[in-house]
Amino acid sequence: MLCCPIRRRNLCNMYQRLTRNLWLISIVLTVTVFSLSTLFSKYSISSQTCLTKSNDKSDVQTNNRNVSSFKPTIFIGGMPRSGTTLMRAILDSHPLIRCGEETRVIPRILSMRAAWKKSPVEWNRLIAGGMTEAILDSAVRAFVYEILLHHSLSADILCDKDPFVLKYATYVASIFPNSKFLLLIRDARAVIHSVMTRRVTITGFSQTDYRQNLKLWNKGIESMFQQCQQIGHNRCMMVYYEQLVLQPKKSIENILKFLDVPWVDSVLHHEELIGKKISLSKTEHSSDQVIKPINLEALTKWFGHVPSDVREELDVLAPMLKRLGYDTKSDTPSYGTADPLVLANMEKMKENADFWKQKVKAYARQLPNNTNLFQKIS
Ligand code: A3P
Repeated sequence: MLCCPIRRRNLCNMYQRLTRNLWLISIVLTVTVFSLSTLFSKYSISSQTCLTKSNDKSDVQTNNRNVSSFKPTIFIGGMPRSGTTLMRAILDSHPLIRCGEETRVIPRILSMRAAWKKSPVEWNRLIAGGMTEAILDSAVRAFVYEILLHHSLSADILCDKDPFVLKYATYVASIFPNSKFLLLIRDARAVIHSVMTRRVTITGFSQTDYRQNLKLWNKGIESMFQQCQQIGHNRCMMVYYEQLVLQPKKSIENILKFLDVPWVDSVLHHEELIGKKISLSKTEHSSDQVIKPINLEALTKWFGHVPSDVREELDVLAPMLKRLGYDTKSDTPSYGTADPLVLANMEKMKENADFWKQKVKAYARQLPNNTNLFQKIS
């Protein structure tokens, strides 16, 4: 009678041990299969990466995401001889901003990129070679940002002053979402007088042909003006040289407001920071002018120097002049009244004429007149 229940209990124990073992085996098997499959998939991904092209789309996306970490950037431009160096020196005197000398290579890379895009043959070749617009944009952006970041001291807000960058303003605005633009405007007659008397060589500009220069000025400023308008007044501001030098406080206040940068008094006396926070290039044409406080020496120098036959055709040769609000009927237009600060600057410069003469000599340009190396209007 006892035998039967004992045997059944043994059978029960055996059955329980068997099911426990089966559970254990199945868990071990699952873990092993899972580990093996993970390992295999890892291996297959890495070997794929080695064998095939990298997923450039995601690389570009990563690069684009980095754009949000870029420092805010200001681009200053306009036709050369329009006060662009003065503008950058004023901004350079702000503790949050750093512009520095012309980079010269930034407009060059932008011009190259524009040429690739403009030529259907070249563009098709690029696309056929695996290039995409996104890759090119990413590369151009990286190039420009690297130059901006490292060509001078660091600052919270980066700034570039290369006059012809404004020719590509809409493109630059698209690849640098956190950027703003200042387009310097100056009376064409003053610009041309400056080019011809200072012998500044800019591709296409003549040392003798006033008409040709007016037409080129018109072409250049028209394209920059259009670019600025396309970007919109929230991101591109036109700065009139005449207003800047006549009413510096009011003008600079407006500029800093537009840039969202707090006011500091140092911006009214950039000349005190020359050679300290502000460095100047000995190869740039405006260095020996920008060392001086904001003044009116250059405002009316062109008066009486426009050839009489050109005067009559001014509106035909350079219609932009009138469009921008200049009085083309007068040979001695009034640009407005000067504020006391500028008059005081002029007075001090007169009192210390010898000091300024020496300083101008020290900053005189040291290279032959070949600024046209990378500058092109069209
Ligand atoms: P002029 O050649 O007529 O004298 P840019 O830097 O864009 O080439 O512009 C140069 C012009 O800006 C020059 O005009 C120069 O006199 C003027 N400029 C530079 N520094 C200045 C200052 N401190 N005050 C007034 N104008 C200045």
